[in-house]
Amino acid sequence: MTTRRLVLTRSAAVVGAASTGLLLPQIVRAQSGKIRVGLMLPYTGTYAPLGVAIENGFRMAIDEKGGKLGGREIEWFKVDDESEPPKAVENANRLVQRDKVDVIMGTVHSGVQMGIQKVARESGVLSIIPNAGVHAATRALCAPNVFRTSFTNSQPTLALGKPMWDRGIKRAVWITHKYAAGDEAFEGFRDSFTKAGGTVVKELGLPFPQVEFQALLTEIASLKPDAVACFFAGGAAAKFIRDYAAAGLKGKIPLYGSGFLTEGVLDAAGPAAEGIITTLHYSDSLDTPRNKQFRLAYAKTFHLQPDVYAVQGYDAGQLLVIGAGAVKGDLGNKQVLYKAMESAAIDSPRGKWTMSKSHNPVQDMYLRVVEKGENKVIGIAAKALADSGAGCKMG
Ligand code: PHB
Repeated sequence: MTTRRLVLTRSAAVVGAASTGLLLPQIVRAQSGKIRVGLMLPYTGTYAPLGVAIENGFRMAIDEKGGKLGGREIEWFKVDDESEPPKAVENANRLVQRDKVDVIMGTVHSGVQMGIQKVARESGVLSIIPNAGVHAATRALCAPNVFRTSFTNSQPTLALGKPMWDRGIKRAVWITHKYAAGDEAFEGFRDSFTKAGGTVVKELGLPFPQVEFQALLTEIASLKPDAVACFFAGGAAAKFIRDYAAAGLKGKIPLYGSGFLTEGVLDAAGPAAEGIITTLHYSDSLDTPRNKQFRLAYAKTFHLQPDVYAVQGYDAGQLLVIGAGAVKGDLGNKQVLYKAMESAAIDSPRGKWTMSKSHNPVQDMYLRVVEKGENKVIGIAAKALADSGAGCKMG
């Protein structure tokens, strides 16, 4: 709001001239009347489908409410962040400094999110995180202008250890892409699995976004654990599932994971995905009118099946609609805006959820199994699970 450019408008100059009788140009504030929304998401690379699903869901939530925010039209700005952390600050600054967006909605990759958080903290721009689970964003680096509609990286896996133990798994191997998302997912898994009684016999990893799994799968075969648990997402998840089966491990060593493993990839993974058990805050098969209506509308609009990323984008849209509505489109009215977003109860396809004090969803975690190409709910692994928000001091 404070950074609006000053422009000379022809109509203002004419009105001025008519009313004063003088032909003086007048400087007036541009009143485009539009809210400037910046999308910073991956549109290339292994996480590209996640970025697309998030944008689809986000636009759908806003369109369902008339396509405006607090009565104002929207001007869209987009950046492909490529899931490249070294480019993150520059990309976020393109939206904030050059395009002067009122809100930055992004992103998927935890490393890139850290760049967005730096820019959001420095500029004070409203930041809505529709996926990236990096702990710091709603822990030590939490801020009044930063809201997450997805999860923290350890949230899904905090619900995974106990169901594995209950299925007789005593020794497990962990495998992941080595960066914040995988490492923090491991924290949740290690804590819940060891607390239940289990032992993590080995932690394996490879750099993001590499997908050469062969040597690691050979190592798993020789370790002979009771099960494998993992964090992979997007294109890499589909390949990991297929390679796991091709290596002869499927049916011998059961595969578990945080539920991203089986989101948006079931067509690509094919029969290799059948039987994989995961925990996540969403499931295709949630048998609620809200989820069914959402899935139908999404499929009709985009000719795609929605996944957890679409839901998180949709909820980011719902949250922004609520916030902008409370301030009638004046996103500069920060106190009222933040209050409305903090106290929002989101009626999500995943089930209703609320914001924790540190601005992260308090939500149920579902236990799911892949059956006939679908993520089927087989139980609730954790009820109203909140992240600790450790180290978060607002203000
Ligand atoms: C992340 O980098 O935080 C991340 C990426 C993809 C997911 C989940 C988390 O599916």
